[in-house]
Parts: sequence; C-alpha cells; structure tokens
Amino acid sequence: MARVLLLNGPNLNLLGTREPGIYGTETLESIEKRAAELAREAGHELLAFQSNAEAELIGRIQRASAEGIGFLIFNPGAFTHTSIALRDAIVGVRLPFIEVHLSNLQAREPFRRHSYFTDIAVGSIAGLGAFGYELAVRAAVRQLARSS
Ligand code: DQA
Repeated sequence: MARVLLLNGPNLNLLGTREPGIYGTETLESIEKRAAELAREAGHELLAFQSNAEAELIGRIQRASAEGIGFLIFNPGAFTHTSIALRDAIVGVRLPFIEVHLSNLQAREPFRRHSYFTDIAVGSIAGLGAFGYELAVRAAVRQLARSS
C-alpha cells in the first residue's frame, strides 16, 4: 500500500463554477472523491489538498515524505507558469509526480504554453478535463507497481 497526494493549486477550489466552458462543471470535491476511490480500489491511499497560496503548497510538498507519501499528482494551476519555488520543492524532496491540467495549455494563450513542471514530471496530462485526474491515478498506480 502506498500513499498518493493529489495536490491542486490556486482557483481550482472554484471548479464547477469557474469558466465551465474551459474547466467543465465537475467540482473539486467530486474529482477528489473519485480519485480516492480509484486509488483505494488499487489498494492505495489518496490524500487531497488544495491551496491558493504558494507557501502552503510548498509546505505540503516538503512534509510529504515525512508522511510516507510516495507519489504526487499535481495541478499547479497558474503557478504552472510562474513558480520556480514549487518546482524546486518537488525536486528537493525527490517526489515522483504526474502533472495534470484540465485544459489544453498548448491551445490557449501563449503565456500558458510554458510549464515549470513538465520536464521534471513522470508524465503530463492536459486537455481531458476532470477525466485527466482519473488517468493520472491509474498511471500513478502503475508507476508504484513498477517501482515496488
Ligand atoms: C490549469 C491551467 C492553468 O493555466 C490555469 O491557470 C489554471 C488551471 C488547468 O487545469 O487547465 O488555473 O492548470
């Protein structure tokens, strides 16, 4: 049994009502619930955390290994395009992760095309809406089986 952390960055707490044409109508609570169910079915535990604050996300990542978390699924929200500090935190604790975005970053504004996370991620999923989180859990389960 491994522990997986599902981490979501700023404004993702607004999912359901936030720009539904881009991000869909599913709430974060429902996404987190399904992700936890999928992980449980595979024999793992999934914890979920969302914050609008960079410092809180960094703190959560730094605490992860002390809490026995072996894998991260991360949607950094707008910090994707700005946060060297979050990137450094993940590299610093050597936590393998999958990057998830609901929208297709490459099909949006030019400032969304660069991510500080893609090159250090095990893999990235973008443009598939809430289903991307399900795929990320399945991929995390496979990665955990490979590395155990
Ligand atoms: C997002 C894409 C980001 O550019 C944006 O700032 C978000 C959500 C996504 O899931 O598509 O907040 O990460």
